Amino acid sequence: MCGIVGYVGEDYAVPILLSALERLEYRGYDSAGIAVIEDGKLIVEKKVGKIRELVRALWGKQYKAKIGIGHTRWATHGAPSEKNAHPHTDERMEFAVVHNGIIENYLELKKELENEGRRFSSETDTEVIAHLISKYYEGDLLQAVLKTVKRLKGAFAFAVISVHEPDKIVGVKTGSPLVVGLGKNENFLASDIPAILPYTRNVISLDDGEVAVLTKDSVDIYDFDGVPVSKEVFVVPWDILSAEKGGFKHFMLKEIFEQPKAVADTIGGFLSQDLSFPFDLSKVNRIVTIACGTSYHAGLVGKYWIEKNAGIPVEVIYASEFRYADVPVDENTLVLAISQSGETADTRFAALSAKEKGAAVVGIVNVVGSSLDREADFTLYTHAGPEIGVAATKTFTAQLAVLYLASLLFARRRGRIDREEFYKKVELFSEVTKKMEKVLELSDQIAEVAAKYKKFKDFLYLGRWLNYPIALEGALKLKEISYIHAEGYPAGEMKHGPIALIDENMPVVVIAPQDRVYEKMISNLEEVLSRKGRVISVGFEGDKVLKEKSETFIGIPEVEAEFSPLVTVIPLQLLAYHIADQLGLDVDQPRNLAKTVTVE
Ligand code: F6R
Repeated sequence: MCGIVGYVGEDYAVPILLSALERLEYRGYDSAGIAVIEDGKLIVEKKVGKIRELVRALWGKQYKAKIGIGHTRWATHGAPSEKNAHPHTDERMEFAVVHNGIIENYLELKKELENEGRRFSSETDTEVIAHLISKYYEGDLLQAVLKTVKRLKGAFAFAVISVHEPDKIVGVKTGSPLVVGLGKNENFLASDIPAILPYTRNVISLDDGEVAVLTKDSVDIYDFDGVPVSKEVFVVPWDILSAEKGGFKHFMLKEIFEQPKAVADTIGGFLSQDLSFPFDLSKVNRIVTIACGTSYHAGLVGKYWIEKNAGIPVEVIYASEFRYADVPVDENTLVLAISQSGETADTRFAALSAKEKGAAVVGIVNVVGSSLDREADFTLYTHAGPEIGVAATKTFTAQLAVLYLASLLFARRRGRIDREEFYKKVELFSEVTKKMEKVLELSDQIAEVAAKYKKFKDFLYLGRWLNYPIALEGALKLKEISYIHAEGYPAGEMKHGPIALIDENMPVVVIAPQDRVYEKMISNLEEVLSRKGRVISVGFEGDKVLKEKSETFIGIPEVEAEFSPLVTVIPLQLLAYHIADQLGLDVDQPRNLAKTVTVE
């Protein structure tokens, strides 16, 4: 949802800003821009399209500025165009602003500023920030920013530079993410850690209501009243290699292949984490899981595990629905808030509202130091490393690992299993990574399947029990990267409606490992066949019955029924990947999407 960066130091700012923006492009990519201060003047360069368009526009320009800010946009207010691209400035080009999030009262502010004679040149909400700072500037940029912030409503982060104080960047966070990177004779500002990983791993995560003032030699943090705040510096455990493609054609493919490691690292991380929750787990009589998209699907799988292993009833609700519904939660409710980024506005705000009602909130988060990580009462981490592809893959299976282990932990704390049983089950679960490795070997075969089916316009995905959420996830992957309509359905529900859709133009992906619902899945498959449906099935490699009944069969290694989602999801991720790739689509940055959705 837009990415912002800032650099102040001894190097030329432009190449650093562009390379940082490239690593933030997953947050939005309909236009990009930078502002730098050179020879006391503000220079702004913007381009519609991806960062490479901006890079092209800057070829040969050789700016020597050593301070600047940059932005990659995912449009909210105003269509993608050069005039709406950031940075935005005041009319006199004294202040430049890049912004992520939404200024809810911008219309009212715009009117006020226009009545005072200020002229606007874009349709964005951002431009009011530049005009307000210019209005309040009386020789101190920090004070002007503090006055401005008090006028703004909404959830946002922004960064500003000014020709009046050409050695300084001021960054503000309230609602949207913002981190400060600490270097030697240089400092950085960014929406997310991967942007600054090549330069530093020493990071300060700003909290809501904080302002950072960066020069090349100093970083000072204040609250919105201008009172200094002392902050901890943490060292990011990721290295830059993990944020690069490493020989794979796309980040998504690399991340699909990283899944066995992501799951193994997550298991290791879970077992070495101090798991003393700041609340009494034995009092919890209900769990409410809140999440969006792929994280929501992980929550659905987790429900089965937690209910079976720990015996606690679990309700899984889309975070965006939770916030405005009257879901009863109280001090005996545990809220599991699942978010890869830890910045998804829907999930964060739902978690905060549950907290207000007295519930304990446990976050399941991949990005250490993200907003949800800091807002939750306790965080369980997925150790998947940075995920750059917009479609979530390795963070999904890592979330599944955390959820399975959490179900065992809850079971143990409630006296349903003892220590020995806990470790026995963990050991058994760890074996799943070997099966995941094996499925990855099917990538070439799945590329052939993709070639056969890529021309179809609608797909149906069917699964039952633990593989019902996997059907939803398979359909979501196909939709978001190949723009093909797909629906995931519980196989038993098909006869209550969607069966009407089935004909020879509708491939049906059937997920049918030999588990307790296998026979029922075969019956549902027969129903598809008798309506001339084309079946692509995912089942155990020795399953002759399933193979015979399917137009296309993808055989996966046999796996404990309970753990099958970690294995069955991989062929579906690969199918979506290869279809999108063969259709020539932008796999890592699909249209209209952004990796981190920081607006409601
Ligand atoms: C799908 C996808 C999205 C995210 C959703 C939640 O591939 O990436 O559906 O899963 O936006 O994001 P997080 O987990 O960061 O809260």
